[in-house]
Amino acid sequence: MDTIYDILKAEHDQVSDLLHQASRDGLKVTFFKIKLKADPHMMGEEKFFYPVLEEIEDLRELVSHAYEEHNEAKTLIFEMEGMDERNENWTAKISELKQSIERHIEEEEGKLFEKARNVLSQERAEEIAQQYIEFKRSYMNRIETT
Ligand SMILES: [Fe+2]
Ligand SMILES: [Fe+2]
Repeated sequence: MDTIYDILKAEHDQVSDLLHQASRDGLKVTFFKIKLKADPHMMGEEKFFYPVLEEIEDLRELVSHAYEEHNEAKTLIFEMEGMDERNENWTAKISELKQSIERHIEEEEGKLFEKARNVLSQERAEEIAQQYIEFKRSYMNRIETT
């Protein structure tokens, strides 16, 4: 069965591809694809993954840093939502978002996941994956029906 790391890593790869696409095409529609992936991803991590990690003394600092990085990305996404792709700052905002998210992904995969793997059992990592998948399913359903 998939662990939470497998699922998050697969989504990171999808977002990275979209970020590359956005820096090539500069389209707002590509930005919206990023937002559609990143919003529930961050929400799901904050709901089911980070709280478990925060219980581990050793991980507390890394998790609080991860929250800060999420907030940085959320602020950028919010700003960009209200911007026109013809705005002279648009391209710079895309690079900023790309850098910000890529840095965060690197830290999650390189530090947070590594440390979590050492403390969480395989079973726990699969359990969190199930919760995360359920949450995403209902989130996506909600989006489709509104
Ligand atoms: Fe992530
Ligand atoms: Fe994250």
